[in-house]
Amino acid sequence: MKKLKITVTAGPTREYLDPVRFLSNPSTGKMGFAVARAAAERGHEVTLVAGPVALKTPKGVRRIDVVSAREMAAAVGASQGDVLVAVAAVADWRPRKRAAKKLKKRDMAGVLELVRNPDILKTAEFPVKIGFAAETGDPAPEAVRKCREKKLAMIVANDVSEAGSGFGADTNRVALCRADGTVERLPKMSKLAVARRIARECENLRA
Ligand code: CTP
Repeated sequence: MKKLKITVTAGPTREYLDPVRFLSNPSTGKMGFAVARAAAERGHEVTLVAGPVALKTPKGVRRIDVVSAREMAAAVGASQGDVLVAVAAVADWRPRKRAAKKLKKRDMAGVLELVRNPDILKTAEFPVKIGFAAETGDPAPEAVRKCREKKLAMIVANDVSEAGSGFGADTNRVALCRADGTVERLPKMSKLAVARRIARECENLRA
């Protein structure tokens, strides 16, 4: 088996509006760290670009810690390789300005003007790109559309409305959706088992 260079993004990003306040989301990084671990266990060279999470680096994985979406975009852009697996829950928007000093609450009404963050998965240049999507209900139509729009080989869609799936859980029920419209629904399984399946998909897609 050919050894691949695989870049994985994981965790949330934080978008600060002053030194003590930020926009973010509840991502814990578990799914992305599991993908990094599974890929490293299969002998691949893994770069893990991680937002702020409380997880240990998997064995044999090169980890780059970032905070904001723009930092994550820069780290991914510098990493290059065969496959990008974008698991991170990137904040889509950031405050237009980051105040150098803590804002006083009396001065905060109306200060939160937002601008779009870069779409890391869409703009990154990798031969094979795999995305994740959190959907409620049937993931297939949206996932297929996004595969085509972002030129992805596959989207791993999870139904976040379901117990034991999504943010913070140790299990996940996902559907593998491809640009050709095929959807493979996997049973609920541990995030590590999902990750091992994704690692094998990286090899098949790059072959
Ligand atoms: N992603 C990214 N950079 C962003 C936003 C998302 O790399 N700025 C990646 C995520 O890591 C994930 C995928 O894109 O792999 C999610 O796609 P997106 O279109 O953002 O999905 P949703 O958040 O479900 O979008 P929407 O609300 O438009 O359905």
